[in-house]
Amino acid sequence: MNIDLQESWFVGEVEIPSRLVLAPMAGVSVQAFRRQGRRYGAGLVCSEMVSVAGIQHRNERTLGYLRVGVDEHPLAIQIFGSDPVAMAEAARMVEAAGADIVDMNFGCPVRKVTKTGAGASLLDDPDLAARLVDAVATAVDLPVSVKMRRGLENGSRTCLEVGPRLVEAGAQTLTLHPRSAKQMYTGEADHSLTAELVERVDVPVIASGDITSRAKAQAVLATTGAAAVMVGRAAQGNPWALAEILGEAREPTREEVVAELILFIRETVRELGEERATGFLKKFYGWYLGRGRFPRPFKQELVTVGSIDEVETRLFAAAPGARDVLERLEAEQPDPEDEVLLDSLPISIYGGG
Ligand SMILES: Cc1cc2nc3c(=O)[nH]c(=O)nc-3n(C[C@H](O)[C@H](O)[C@H](O)COP(=O)(O)O)c2cc1C
Repeated sequence: MNIDLQESWFVGEVEIPSRLVLAPMAGVSVQAFRRQGRRYGAGLVCSEMVSVAGIQHRNERTLGYLRVGVDEHPLAIQIFGSDPVAMAEAARMVEAAGADIVDMNFGCPVRKVTKTGAGASLLDDPDLAARLVDAVATAVDLPVSVKMRRGLENGSRTCLEVGPRLVEAGAQTLTLHPRSAKQMYTGEADHSLTAELVERVDVPVIASGDITSRAKAQAVLATTGAAAVMVGRAAQGNPWALAEILGEAREPTREEVVAELILFIRETVRELGEERATGFLKKFYGWYLGRGRFPRPFKQELVTVGSIDEVETRLFAAAPGARDVLERLEAEQPDPEDEVLLDSLPISIYGGG
């Protein structure tokens, strides 16, 4: 079995240059993560889920999620909500922000989201789910995709009934994470359901869940007929997993790990501001420096360090050669001025009209 993951495919008219997609992950999928994903071969990257209510209320932090870098394309921005009018308006904002695809979240299992009728709970309300897709597909010229779970309850096959209805309503791609909402992240993703969904719809299907290696990616593509695999947790602090899946396996040196981490830190500080970034980044230290790359006490120590400058100092001390690697990486970064910033969105979009 040797499936070529470097083939391109299409979401609507948007060409996706590889069959590897970087998963949307709340609290993880910042711009630095998405850019890095593109550099390591992900054909498509996705923002974390963005609240439609937050967009509607012009919440500053929420609007920050709509910032798009020139080197992120193709990029999907994911929205969640349960009101068709608000969802359509949010989709127009996503389009104005410069995304290539609007992705709709019908999979989030977290109670705070499902109790509002959004996320995975939409799988139990196929009429509303279809109306939401129709409202968004009508509102924008961008292709619309939907990401969903298998259903709410363990063993559910709801996605097989709902999926075709969403396609009828205008979804041009479906992503399936075949766990139930109840399972959260326990047990295994059952990709036999992905295969069944592929049979039932005539749009590309992306397989999400437990793709951690090239062997697993190829097995899932071969047995399901999916257009692409999506990688989430395996890529946290580990872009080298993406390269491995694409057939370019190579263990990073300590210098490369530190350089990628420091680039990630600097970009995230620029995106979130130092105060927010300080807490946000802590989980990434363990993700980057774990996997036997650095001794455990070093990792633990970084988490307790108060300032980002001090974190950088200690990282450079642990791998001095990282300075050269970082310099090369930074030289390849696009000019921050080349971003689509919110300030440049048309006023009428802010105006709520
Ligand atoms: C921390 C975390 C946050 C996530 N946030 C989102 C999200 O915002 N939107 C979404 O559709 N899925 C989200 N997911 C689900 C992932 O996109 C993916 O479907 C799931 O993790 C299974 O893939 P994996 O085994 O490769 O991690 C999240 C997963 C994790 C671990």
